[in-house]
Amino acid sequence: MEAKGICNGYLKRLPKSVEMREVGPREGFQRGNIVPILADARKPQDYTWIEPADILYQDVAIPDQSEILIRNARVFLKPDGFAMIAIKSRSIDVVRPPQQIYKEELKKLSEYFKVLDKKELDPYEKDHMFVVMKPKA
Ligand SMILES: C[S@@+](CC[C@H](N)C(=O)[O-])C[C@H]1O[C@@H](n2cnc3c(N)ncnc32)[C@H](O)[C@@H]1O
Repeated sequence: MEAKGICNGYLKRLPKSVEMREVGPREGFQRGNIVPILADARKPQDYTWIEPADILYQDVAIPDQSEILIRNARVFLKPDGFAMIAIKSRSIDVVRPPQQIYKEELKKLSEYFKVLDKKELDPYEKDHMFVVMKPKA
């Protein structure tokens, strides 16, 4: 789960970034405006000390990224919060057409979230789709 980038300057509270590699947390310490958490985003039970979040952004390049976002949202996302994900179709399946992957991931995400907007990022980020959502009431 990620919360970093140029928008940090506009946020009132410190973003947290869950990262498995040490490089992510190190970058967070250097920037000084991200709280890095060295943990597996698949296991939100390992960082339950985090307060409820207004925004969750999921950017991990692994096949179960939708499930991970839902799992974290159940624990941390406020009922009126926003969730964002960059679906990386080639990390989910390098062979199948991205359109097919997007359809399947949107179906999974729609079980927990209401999809507010979605955009394919080609040619800026090849075979990626960005999705903005809210938890279903
Ligand atoms: C595409 S990079 C995005 C990094 C960050 N959003 C950025 O823009 O710099 C995906 C990151 O997810 C991390 N990652 C992969 N699996 C993870 C997991 N289970 N838990 C936490 N981080 C994970 C990888 O180490 C990698 O740094």
